[in-house]
Amino acid sequence: MFESMTKELATQQILDSVKEYHKTFMQKPPYIEGDRISYASRVFDEHEMINLVDSALEFWLTSGRYTEKFEKKLAEYLQVPFCSLVNSGSSANLISFMALTSPLLGVRAIKRGDEVITVAAGFPTTVTPIIQFGAVPVFVDVTIPQYNIDTSLLEKALSPKTKAVMLAHTLGNPFALQVVKDFCTAHNLWLVEDNCDALGSTYTIDGVTKYTGTIGDIGTSSFYPPHHMTMGEGGAVYTSDALLHKIVLSLRDWGRDCVCPSGKDNLCGQRFSRQYGELPFGYDHKYVYSHFGYNLKATDMQAAIGCAQLEKFPSFVEKRKTNYRRLYEGLKDLQEKFILPEAAPNSDPSWFGFLITCKEGISRNKMVHHLEKNNIQTRMLFAGNLIKHPCFDEMRKSDNGYRVVGSLAVTDRIMNDTFWIGVYPGMTNEMIDKMIFELKNC
Ligand SMILES: Cc1ncc(COP(=O)(O)O)c(C=O)c1O
Repeated sequence: MFESMTKELATQQILDSVKEYHKTFMQKPPYIEGDRISYASRVFDEHEMINLVDSALEFWLTSGRYTEKFEKKLAEYLQVPFCSLVNSGSSANLISFMALTSPLLGVRAIKRGDEVITVAAGFPTTVTPIIQFGAVPVFVDVTIPQYNIDTSLLEKALSPKTKAVMLAHTLGNPFALQVVKDFCTAHNLWLVEDNCDALGSTYTIDGVTKYTGTIGDIGTSSFYPPHHMTMGEGGAVYTSDALLHKIVLSLRDWGRDCVCPSGKDNLCGQRFSRQYGELPFGYDHKYVYSHFGYNLKATDMQAAIGCAQLEKFPSFVEKRKTNYRRLYEGLKDLQEKFILPEAAPNSDPSWFGFLITCKEGISRNKMVHHLEKNNIQTRMLFAGNLIKHPCFDEMRKSDNGYRVVGSLAVTDRIMNDTFWIGVYPGMTNEMIDKMIFELKNC
């Protein structure tokens, strides 16, 4: 079939077929009343599929030209100098936290037993790396209707062992970055922004509007399908700090000292001419390890999909905002039943979902049951109260390994009374109106 063609022509023919395949088999049929309304879904067209197949035909497989392009484009979008693609948002959080334990950071490095201020109302892998390393998460309560840290508790949570604050921007709504950042600066603490649910959100700090994830020392993203954009599995770590970036790359790529990308050797020109540790002089830099690292790289096929998603990304953010506004307008008369979400002051959220807390006398479980029965998918605010989960059983028994400051009454309320529904860019007005109708009629 391809014998008489050049490789370029054959590639083009395959990619044209992919386009045709998408048009014929992959178009989403229009929503019909009664269809399931997911809380989130992938939004893509032929460009993602073409990029994926193009990358597959190249068969480079590991990180390559698409990865390089994706990292550059995401860094440009976020207006940061450094961005590293990884294989998930959880890996991004792991690397970000572990970067702060690097000996290269001297006295500021987080040590075992040091404390990190965070919240229990959220996704587990914002907290997991802290515990896995042997540092101590210090949990404080959150507020409704922002669902983020109650910053009035920060000073109370501070101890001589505090080294960092690590928090997610809940469902796209930025936490009070001005207060948290000022607190971190005043006490010489690291700030990690888990931006996995907030890509595209902005916050105005010291009079300057910036993307969330770029205000602290390190930010993270997830590209798992429900998220703001997808590549199946994937994540990113971004920073403006050249040293943190170097550490992130080392941890991502086996702990090595060398920063040559896959398939490249000796970019620094010093491959065989330096002294490292107690190794013999001139030991091959490619195999010198400055950290106990991982391999958390993504493949170039994931990055290829990400490149096509990034092209559409600003329109995704706008659609999320529009969908949020339509839901809010439709539900604002129901405030005797529900607490509706509220954007943090000085922020413009790229909403991941629409959080609703049931007021007294209204059963969350009944609401959720009604919506699910009517084909509207719902979600809890992830763990609700993370400390109540079986993974904490051992630590709870011994009251060891974590600290709680004050009560977690609002966190518990979220665990009991809160749920959320979607605002993803593929949602149509009919779908949103159906959700409003069912919330009004239950
Ligand atoms: C706030 C937050 N952080 C981290 C993650 C983990 O991302 P991933 O599923 O890509 O590991 C999630 C997942 O949904 C999340 O919501």
